[in-house]
Amino acid sequence: MAEGNTEVVTAAATEAPLSTIARIGEHDGQAVTLHGWLYNLRESGKLLFPIFRDGTGTIQGIVPKAAVTPEVFETVKGLTQESSVIVTGKVRADKRAPGGYELDVVNVHVVQRVRAEDPYPISLKEHGTDFLMEHRHLWVRSPRQAAILRIRAEIIKAARDFLDDNGFVLTDPPILTPAACEGTSTLFPVEYFGDEAYLTQSGQLYIESTALALGKVYSFGPTFRAEKSKTRRHLTEFWMVEPEWAFADLDDLMGLAENFISFIVDRVVTRRPAELKTIQRDVTKLEAIKPPFPRLRYDEAVAMLNEAHAKGLLEAPFEYGNDFGSPDETYISSQFDRPVMVHRYPAAVKAFYMEPDPKDPTYALCVDVLAPEGYGEVIGGSQRVASYELLKKRIEEHHLPIDAFQWYLDLRRYGSVPHSGFGMGIERAVAWICGLDHVRETIPFARTLNRIYP
Ligand code: 4AD
Ligand code: MG
Repeated sequence: MAEGNTEVVTAAATEAPLSTIARIGEHDGQAVTLHGWLYNLRESGKLLFPIFRDGTGTIQGIVPKAAVTPEVFETVKGLTQESSVIVTGKVRADKRAPGGYELDVVNVHVVQRVRAEDPYPISLKEHGTDFLMEHRHLWVRSPRQAAILRIRAEIIKAARDFLDDNGFVLTDPPILTPAACEGTSTLFPVEYFGDEAYLTQSGQLYIESTALALGKVYSFGPTFRAEKSKTRRHLTEFWMVEPEWAFADLDDLMGLAENFISFIVDRVVTRRPAELKTIQRDVTKLEAIKPPFPRLRYDEAVAMLNEAHAKGLLEAPFEYGNDFGSPDETYISSQFDRPVMVHRYPAAVKAFYMEPDPKDPTYALCVDVLAPEGYGEVIGGSQRVASYELLKKRIEEHHLPIDAFQWYLDLRRYGSVPHSGFGMGIERAVAWICGLDHVRETIPFARTLNRIYP
């Protein structure tokens, strides 16, 4: 067994051009250099089959004893999982290979050898989720996790491209705030030079201000909720993209939401087919995501739930006037092959800033977009209260500190207009688009009720 070291050894420059595994097909028949890690090693007599990964994919190498120097053979034979390497070899197309190519290894330079006495903790056998989350800093190296993170990045880029190209200007709201936006029970307090401040729950209130300055704006940033819930949909720190649009009503907003989501899903299907394959996502489900999306009033959704309960499909009866629970959302969303937009909830269960429906002010001009396949809410949004008097009354009724909201009331004193916006939780979108059963795998380092390590 070769001796381990924790030192990093730089290689002499090689002749062969550097490639990534994802683009190795461009070098078919030629020698290339790869920068990567040993993912796995199989041995069969005088043949070694190291699998290398480089963050863009994996490739199997072939090392026949007769074809390489004894040093190279022994180096590969003693290689430990996740040792970092610089590999040179000749690219060969092979139809049976998962990525279509194999590498005839010529040389392997070990940059850092993982010590055999202290092996990489995540072996290729199954591990429990708690163990994997405890080793999240290493777990992100697995091909599946890396593919999810690439899809996440694509979703974020698509969201920004869509908004940038449709006239929405990025305006970054503060993260330290003096007051609540989404209810006082989920605030994270921060000591702010002797005063109490809070981590933001949403950029919305601030981008309402920039929307009245610029017309169409959005924010994209981390948001925080001290959620005491342990569901598969809740994080305490998550990323939200929020467009806000002056002179737009609820119908405009629903049109925006369906085009936004359809654009993002189409981007992922078009640009990330390899990653979707790695995570074994059923792509036909994503290809169905085209506007228009079904629109359902809250009352119609409740009727569906009551019917489901009567048929024994839902355990708990739904109490009219409540917000939907996870099982309710799951049931409603599983009835459609594309996202469904549930609008006009009873105003009493929704946020203080939502405009009442002029046809019946007990309803709010709001919309939740529920993703299909049982994923539930990915977007929440509304038209905003435009009247100074009504907004002031709402702030008082919700026992919010009026002084902290004077600036927000100013937006209704000086040139108030109907305006609307929504927020999409990136992790909820990633979970649905990737078909994951928990949001903890959708973000590099999930923060939940029970976890703040690593
Ligand atoms: O529905 P929410 O609470 O709406 C707002 O915050 C509005 N101020 C947004 C706006 O109108 N600009 O949250 C919006 C979205 C949800 O639909 C969900 O996707 C996500 O944010 N979200 C969460 N994601 C993960 N963990 C949590 N604890 C989340 N809470 C909300
Ligand atoms: Mg919501």
